[in-house]
Amino acid sequence: MSDILVHTEAGVSTITFNRVDKKNSITAAMYAELADAIDKAAADNAVRTVLIQGDATIFSAGNDIGDFLNAPPSNENSPVFRFMRAMASFPKPIVAAVCGPAVGIGTTLLFHCDLVYAGDNAAFSMPFVNLGLCPEFGSSMLVPQMFGYHRAAEALLLGEPFMAEAALEIGLVNRVVPPTECNAIAQVQARKLAAKPLSALIETKRLMKKGQQGMLLERMAEEGQSFGRMLREPAAREAFSAFMEKRKPDFSKV
Ligand code: COA
Repeated sequence: MSDILVHTEAGVSTITFNRVDKKNSITAAMYAELADAIDKAAADNAVRTVLIQGDATIFSAGNDIGDFLNAPPSNENSPVFRFMRAMASFPKPIVAAVCGPAVGIGTTLLFHCDLVYAGDNAAFSMPFVNLGLCPEFGSSMLVPQMFGYHRAAEALLLGEPFMAEAALEIGLVNRVVPPTECNAIAQVQARKLAAKPLSALIETKRLMKKGQQGMLLERMAEEGQSFGRMLREPAAREAFSAFMEKRKPDFSKV
C-alpha cells in the first residue's frame, strides 16, 4: 500500500497520509506523490475540492528526519518544493482534517488550506528553530499575519506546541470536533464546496488571495534558500542525528 492514498468521489479528491507507523512523516517520494495528486486535481474538471487528512491519532510528524539527514532537497525542483508551490497556487478549495500531532510542514501546510477541522487531540507545532532551521512554506509571513507578532514569536522562536482550542482562537482552524468524527465532518464540508459552481469558487479564492500571492511565492523562495542551506549546517545535523539516535541534541558546540 502506498504511503499516500488518493481517492476521488463526489467532486472531492481525498488525500490521506498512510504512514502511521512513522507518524505520517513525509519522505521525498511522498512529496512527489502529493505534488502529482494536487497537479492532477487542478487539471481535472471533475475534482472541485481537495481534502487532506491523516487518521484519528496522527496528522503528520512533518518531514522525514532520515531524509533531512541523508537526502536533503537539492534544488527548487525537489519534490518538497514542487509540493509547496502546487499547494500554494492551487486554484480550488482545500479542506484539511487534523487530529493528533501536526509538526513542521504538518502545521504549515494548513496555512494553504481554506477550511480546517481539528480533532480535540490536535497538537500543532513549528519547531524549526529547535532543529537549527528556519520557517518554510511562507510561514515566516503567514504566521505573524494570522497570530500577531508576539504569538508568532512564541510559535516560531520558542517552537512551542499549541493545542486545538488555541488554534481555534487564533483562527487557524474552523471547528474543533471529536477525533473519530473529524475526517467525516471534513468530508461533509468538502462535498458542500464541491456541489457549488466551480468557477465561482475559483474566482472567490483568487480574489481573497490576490493581495499577497506574489509576495507569498517570493517569500517561499527566500525561505527555501535559507532552509536548504541550514539543513546542511552543524546545528541541524546535530538535531537530526539526536532524533535518529533517540537522545537530546547538544548544541553547545554549534
Ligand atoms: N521522521 C522520521 N521518523 C519519524 C518522524 C519523522 N519526522 N516522526 C516520528 N518518526 C518515527 C519515530 O522515529 C518512530 O520510529 P521507530 O518506531 O522506528 O522508532 C516512530 O515514528 C514513532 O515515533 P515516536 O516518536 O515513538 O512517537 P510518539 O507518539 O512518541 O511522538 C511525535 C510523536 C510526532 C510527537 C514525535 O515522533 C516527533 O516529535 N517527531 C519528530 C517531529 C519533527 O521534528 N519533525 C520535523 C519537523 S521540521
